[in-house]
Amino acid sequence: MTSWNPVPSLPASLPSADGVWTDLRLAPGLALPDVAVPEGAAACVVVEGGRVRWVGPAAALPAAYAPRPRHAGGGLLATPGLVDCHTHLVYGGHRANEFAMRLAGASYEEVARAGGGIVSSVKATRAATEDELVAQALPRLQALLDEGVCAIEIKSGYGLALEHERKQLRAARRLGEIAGVTVRTTFLGAHALPPEYAGRSQDYIDLVCREMLPALAAEGLVDAVDVFCERIAFSLAETEQVFQAAQALGLPVKLHAEQLSDMGGAQLAARYGALSCDHIEHLSAEGIAAMKAAGTVAVLLPGAYYTLRDTQLPPIQALREAGVPMAVSTDHNPGTSPALSLRLMANMACTLFRLTVPEALAGITTHAARALGLEGTHGLIAAGRPADFVLWPVQEAAELAYWFGQGAAHTIVRQGRIAKGDCA
Ligand code: NIG
Ligand code: FE
Repeated sequence: MTSWNPVPSLPASLPSADGVWTDLRLAPGLALPDVAVPEGAAACVVVEGGRVRWVGPAAALPAAYAPRPRHAGGGLLATPGLVDCHTHLVYGGHRANEFAMRLAGASYEEVARAGGGIVSSVKATRAATEDELVAQALPRLQALLDEGVCAIEIKSGYGLALEHERKQLRAARRLGEIAGVTVRTTFLGAHALPPEYAGRSQDYIDLVCREMLPALAAEGLVDAVDVFCERIAFSLAETEQVFQAAQALGLPVKLHAEQLSDMGGAQLAARYGALSCDHIEHLSAEGIAAMKAAGTVAVLLPGAYYTLRDTQLPPIQALREAGVPMAVSTDHNPGTSPALSLRLMANMACTLFRLTVPEALAGITTHAARALGLEGTHGLIAAGRPADFVLWPVQEAAELAYWFGQGAAHTIVRQGRIAKGDCA
């Protein structure tokens, strides 16, 4: 993963997925209309012009579609393309040294206060060119795509200065073009205080709100805005200032909330109609109620929980009882979650957080799409949506969360093209 030149060019064009995909089994709850295909019955998916046109029981396939080219599904299990809704995929270098420090007993906060942590990735990211960032991130993206990810969020936040945040966001956009995958970019300028602003947090937040965000938004590089609201990062008042700037530009917000302590960030985020609150190990009952009222998704990040050997579980049962949708993501980043398997995160969400298998599978598809504002296009197999679906060589949907360490997809259809497999 350390070679970073040259930047690959666009892949040779992939075969079209247009035609009738026959003899599929649909994973329960992840296709519309889900009542139309009895569990176990063979289903068909019709793709036309790169979009799903029709999905339903094979026996009800409209006659008009019958003469179309066929892709034989062979009884494989179909899910929507997976959605990784919280990643910091673009950065320079890595932080294996901190892994060793933490194993020797240092906490995440101690590493950060000692000048490591996010700020050390900032140094490496600033030193890298845009091409180098793309080339370093590409194998990481490829690992996620090979497992069936069809939409991914990529945050900035390791540049912490206009030109470097721009470089990260441009790299994220380019990755989407190179790989042919939906990328949603999130501006996380308020991730950490850059060293040159030490002791001048308010000045930095002013810069984020008055210069960085408006400039990057005007360049079309920002789909959403995030803040790390925490004792070691930014206060509630600073977070609100960033949210106001986002709101003024018509951009949706999200929040790294209540990861290490209960800051009341979830209530604030809910007041701004946040798409999601992420981490939330220390989320309060008030935070849950506010998220429910605002329709904010709870994004669970078991990779960071595991890496930090956290013991504070997110309030899963209370979220479930309140009916707050729960998504699950890798939180891929070089410090707290060097994870490149979304299915492993589903497994960990079940094992560590006690999600049910259907919750975990909705968490890496339907609810993850919602956390990105993509609920109308991604996360379900349904007519009218882009053809993003994955065929798995498993008998039961539960196997998708059960196996870990292996479990390649058989066939991947991404953006209407066959990215892996054939089913000819
Ligand atoms: O999501 N919590 C803050 N941000 C990242 C960690 C980033 C890093 O340590 O580089 C997270 O866990
Ligand atoms: Fe994160």
